[in-house]
Amino acid sequence: MKALILSGGKGTRLRPLTYTGAKQLVPVANKPILWYGIEEMVAAGITDIGIVISPETGAEVQAKTGNGERFGAKITYILQSEPAGLAHAGKVALPFLGDSPFLMYLGDNLIQQGDLSYFLQQFTNQQPEALILLRQVDNPSAFGVAKVDDTGRVLELIEKPKNPPSNLALVGVYFFSSVIHHAIANIQPSARGELEITDAIQYLIDEEKPVTACQLEGWWLDTGKKDDLLEANRLILDTYLKSSITGEVDAETNLSGRVQLGKYSQLVNCTIRGPVIIGNNCYLENCFVGPYTSIADNSHLIDTDLEHSVVLEGAKIAGIEKRIIDSVIGQRAKLTVAPRRPRALRFMIGDDCQIELA
Ligand code: TTP
Repeated sequence: MKALILSGGKGTRLRPLTYTGAKQLVPVANKPILWYGIEEMVAAGITDIGIVISPETGAEVQAKTGNGERFGAKITYILQSEPAGLAHAGKVALPFLGDSPFLMYLGDNLIQQGDLSYFLQQFTNQQPEALILLRQVDNPSAFGVAKVDDTGRVLELIEKPKNPPSNLALVGVYFFSSVIHHAIANIQPSARGELEITDAIQYLIDEEKPVTACQLEGWWLDTGKKDDLLEANRLILDTYLKSSITGEVDAETNLSGRVQLGKYSQLVNCTIRGPVIIGNNCYLENCFVGPYTSIADNSHLIDTDLEHSVVLEGAKIAGIEKRIIDSVIGQRAKLTVAPRRPRALRFMIGDDCQIELA
């Protein structure tokens, strides 16, 4: 059994972060999203992992993630020259996959830890040509939706249906036998010009090949948008964060709840209400950091109130009078108050940024 993680794509919904980096490397609780998937696979016993990368962000993904040794896996990188669709990524990966059955996993998706082993077991027991995961959602029209019979056999997949036949959305995790390559070779690009994995699965259904579904009860998040990224951060901190203080905390600082503070980091006269994770080499003075906040390495925060937010590496925030909430602050971003007159707002804002002033 092999695994194929899709870590290319355009990432338009997470701009501006994706202008300068891969969305799969954006940290959730200070760990790249992509790594959660790798760890889950290794925990489920799948260690031969291919990662599909793009020309724009591939080098960064490769440099950060390495050859897999740190995860107990063997990672092979596969370049997809353009983001021509999920099925196209499968096609490009054919030399790596050969005739092995494989797990296909969207690199910006997170599912509840421990669930993957169960689904792998189902795939091994049932031996279908494809096993898809489905999750009940409130707004099925926004997703690919499946029609399933009583036995769990998939009858039809419909992309963003106006009249959804069920509220079961396709999760970005699929198990395939090598027969999927035959299906991929026989489909045409969709209206948006991509080779769609749903079309390849539908091809198998139309050929009367066994395609089955399992329902995911645990959580599933597609972190491709800001609010989903914040929700993933909240869930991971809420579920898994353990207290550990390696850095320095002065006598005026008040810590409550679960707080993780990395080495060489310093807290001076701060109130930190967990769950909060602060990386290495950070400096925080006169700050309130509220629940569900992750602050990456080398960040500097002075006179700042921050809650339910993700701060990326090397950011600097100082003197903002209002509380910052529900925010994602990019790498090396600076958010400060200028002392000079006239008192005014001065910006240097990158393309596609979102700023909401109260
Ligand atoms: P999507 O989030 O569906 O697509 P995208 O990354 O282009 O993002 P957006 O819609 O915001 O522009 O992709 C799901 C995952 O699959 C994501 O990790 C990127 C990856 N992917 C590829 O590796 N190759 C591809 O051709 C596509 C479309 C996506």
